[in-house]
Amino acid sequence: MNYRHAFHAGNFADVFKHAILLALLDALTAKDKPLCYFDTHAGRGSYRLDDAEALKTGEWRAGIGRLFDAPDPPKSLRRYLDAIRACNPDGTPRVYPGSPWLAAQASRANDRLVLCETQDDEAAALRTLFRDDPRAHVHRRDGYAALNALLPPAERRGMVLIDPPFEAQEAEFAVIEAALAQARARWPNGVYAVWYPIKSRRAVAPFHRRMSEGPFDAVVVAELMVQPDDSPLRLNGCGMLVANPPWKLDGVLAAMLPALRDMLAQSARAEGHLRRLRGE
Ligand SMILES: C[S@@+](CC[C@H](N)C(=O)[O-])C[C@H]1O[C@@H](n2cnc3c(N)ncnc32)[C@H](O)[C@@H]1O
Repeated sequence: MNYRHAFHAGNFADVFKHAILLALLDALTAKDKPLCYFDTHAGRGSYRLDDAEALKTGEWRAGIGRLFDAPDPPKSLRRYLDAIRACNPDGTPRVYPGSPWLAAQASRANDRLVLCETQDDEAAALRTLFRDDPRAHVHRRDGYAALNALLPPAERRGMVLIDPPFEAQEAEFAVIEAALAQARARWPNGVYAVWYPIKSRRAVAPFHRRMSEGPFDAVVVAELMVQPDDSPLRLNGCGMLVANPPWKLDGVLAAMLPALRDMLAQSARAEGHLRRLRGE
């Protein structure tokens, strides 16, 4: 495992992913009942934007760097931006929160977070970050295996975020599909969000096709292309597939995607789009 998220934290893909994550959690916390947030690939929970890794790639500058100081950010991104600005109260972007941290901020006192991470140092950092938060349960273990072992959650409500590093490239999709099928068998009503990279749209099409055939009755995908997918070997865009999407999520995402495209475009041919793969 060579992947280190610190090189990429706060890049356009993180902005896209985390804006959608907060929309999902806001929809789920609109009801009083407690929920479980399950992060299969949690990372370390918080990243420095001024450390050697972030400085080496500078990726965050074309991501959160574009939004952080925006004087009049699009309404659909304000919730996300407020969460990031809250981590940087002096007004300079130095820290970028990971999905576990954002989820914890969006959760309530009686919600629970299950956070899985395989790398020792990342898991240790995550444990330290949440040492005073009794809602958070950090597991240094394979997130896919943990899904199978720990679902359904006692709360019977909530969501799973699957955000792998895709070191196996397209082969990761088969692993995700198998994990989703097993997870659904154990917890049919959970909301499942899967982030994926897009180098070429053609490579993603088989995943969409298979997910349009089942096992979930309702599946929506949001995608952001920051440049056309004919730019070879680059991360040209990314997507989030949501199975069992909360009510009205499509409307929230439909407002967010043009704003993300406008703020994060790296080409005049950037685009954001939303597609229902299954269900109304
Ligand atoms: C893209 S990063 C996660 C970023 C995080 N979800 C966020 O949004 O802040 C992927 C993480 O998954 C970890 N990882 C890789 N394979 C894993 C597995 N099978 N189970 C759990 N964690 C894994 C990596 O060490 C890495 O920290």
